[in-house]
Amino acid sequence: MAEDLKLTQTSKEEKYKELIPQLNALIQGEEDLIANLANVSAGLKEAFQFLWVGFYLVKQDELVLGPFQGPVACTRIQKGKGVCGNSWDKAQTIIVPDVEKFEGHIACSSHSKSEIVIPMIRNQEVVAVLDVDSSELNTFDEVDEKHLSLLLNEINF
Ligand code: SME
Repeated sequence: MAEDLKLTQTSKEEKYKELIPQLNALIQGEEDLIANLANVSAGLKEAFQFLWVGFYLVKQDELVLGPFQGPVACTRIQKGKGVCGNSWDKAQTIIVPDVEKFEGHIACSSHSKSEIVIPMIRNQEVVAVLDVDSSELNTFDEVDEKHLSLLLNEINF
């Protein structure tokens, strides 16, 4: 049985350092992918109060909405479309400081102002992307990229 997350830190780096071992402990004890993606989404949302945190899973030739926390979102995204489809296509993390300046950005929520999308890569293939949206501009940087990438590497896909 999981206990409440212990969240005492205030700086971004320290928050990640406190949160990630707790999420790792949760997901290492569970082999079900959906359960683990759901807990990772919930933990990130609770710790950082992001607008939206969730996964899109690669299914055939498109991304399909997976476990998430936040407002309802678009269910399917084509390869190369939006930030998520671009991250999948390029197999690269994309940090968007201002979504209005990203050509082709897909606005699932009018409150989203900045965004980071990180691909999950297994056997050289993107199998899913983690998408995190903020209601403020310029929220994400290499600190988020580093810690979120480490966290994704721990998920058994
Ligand atoms: N903004 C994303 C779409 C997903 S929602 O933000 C949850 C994109 O451009 O791919």
